[in-house]
Amino acid sequence: MLDSVLEKNRSYLQNTDPEVFNALVGEEKRQRFGIELIPSENFAFPEVLALLGSAFTNKYSEGYPGKRYYGGQDYTDIIEDLARERAKKIFRGEHANVQPLSGSAMNQAIYHAYLDPGDTVLGMELSHGGHLTHGAPVSHMGKIYNFLRYKTIINKGGIIDWDEVEDLTLRYKPKILLCGHSSYPKDLDYTKFKSIADKVGALTMADVSHIGGWIATNHLNNPLDAGFDFMTTTTHKSMRGPRGGLILSKKEHAKKIDSSIFPGLQGGPHMNQVAATALTMKKVATSEFNNYALMVLKNAKKLAEELLAEGFDLITGGTENHLIVIDTVKSLGLDGKKAEELLDEYGITTNKQVIPDDPNPPLRPSGIRLGTPAVTTRGMEEEDMKIIAKWISKILKEKENLKSLTGLKNDIKNFSDKFVLPGI
Ligand SMILES: Cc1ncc(COP(=O)(O)O)c(C=O)c1O
Repeated sequence: MLDSVLEKNRSYLQNTDPEVFNALVGEEKRQRFGIELIPSENFAFPEVLALLGSAFTNKYSEGYPGKRYYGGQDYTDIIEDLARERAKKIFRGEHANVQPLSGSAMNQAIYHAYLDPGDTVLGMELSHGGHLTHGAPVSHMGKIYNFLRYKTIINKGGIIDWDEVEDLTLRYKPKILLCGHSSYPKDLDYTKFKSIADKVGALTMADVSHIGGWIATNHLNNPLDAGFDFMTTTTHKSMRGPRGGLILSKKEHAKKIDSSIFPGLQGGPHMNQVAATALTMKKVATSEFNNYALMVLKNAKKLAEELLAEGFDLITGGTENHLIVIDTVKSLGLDGKKAEELLDEYGITTNKQVIPDDPNPPLRPSGIRLGTPAVTTRGMEEEDMKIIAKWISKILKEKENLKSLTGLKNDIKNFSDKFVLPGI
């Protein structure tokens, strides 16, 4: 049934807009024949793809279940209630808002709800693993609020500099103490953050966008268990859901968060995305997903071990989650831009990445970032990680003599093609 609906839509598309159709087919081939190692990417559940293209796309639903500004909400209320209840259950949250259109919007909604312009937030330094939406100077949020930053201690395996976190908190009394990351390969001690925040009455916020799926399955620590006020996560990375965001919070924050999303920041929620989020929350609660999450983490460990054995220098010395950052300058005298391009040439997709206190600029940084969620979705296991690590090593080490790698592109293509690509 699902297949036939998708097939019908494809043939419409092919007839009406061959240019877009051909680009779609090109992208599908790129995904099928390549090895996808960007840690924030994944392959959505086929049911998610179907719901995103469903009748829910057509509906305007400003407001919340039972309190909408448009009629005809019988079915949208059902899916939003399902999404909220399921999210609360899997993350042990008291309140859930499933309407943020993206990860950026979910973080902004919290800042706008609790901060006045000029107020202070303490978050993780971008080059040490933090995210743009945690107050990078180039972001709008960085211009509106006063973001201060803590770092990790590079020569102590990249642990968080707790003395600095505490010192900055006591000195500047931030309104929000923020943790979470997009390129930090370690789990976090949320209890420690909470105890420091409590010394000055700061609110606690964890942006777990990269690791939501591993928290939902209890393989990594849950900030809500440590008494955090807010936890935000994207739904499209580790959880294989639609592109979007989720906010979990204590009940006392429910009203402020909901009105900060609507009418504060957004108009009509994307109900096709909300329907797909409801489905995703159901999938994430299954034992099948739990096995998947465990495999992602095992694969990342194995890939890190193999890269270390090949002589690569890894930020923090390895990984405790799904992502790995290679210092390509230290390992091979190669900047991250060049490393990303070389691997891309062979169908291995990674992304250039700044490393802690990087002396190089963001478009030509000193490292690359890799992760295992997408390859694990395709069914790859630890033995496959060994093969991939060897290929990465070969390509980057042979940078001056790529002719010696004749045939490798085809080997990678044939290897990838052996694994299923869900929904495509
Ligand atoms: C930690 C973190 N927060 C927020 C975001 C922003 O999400 P989006 O791209 O959906 O706006 C990302 C995405 O990369 C992220 O990694």
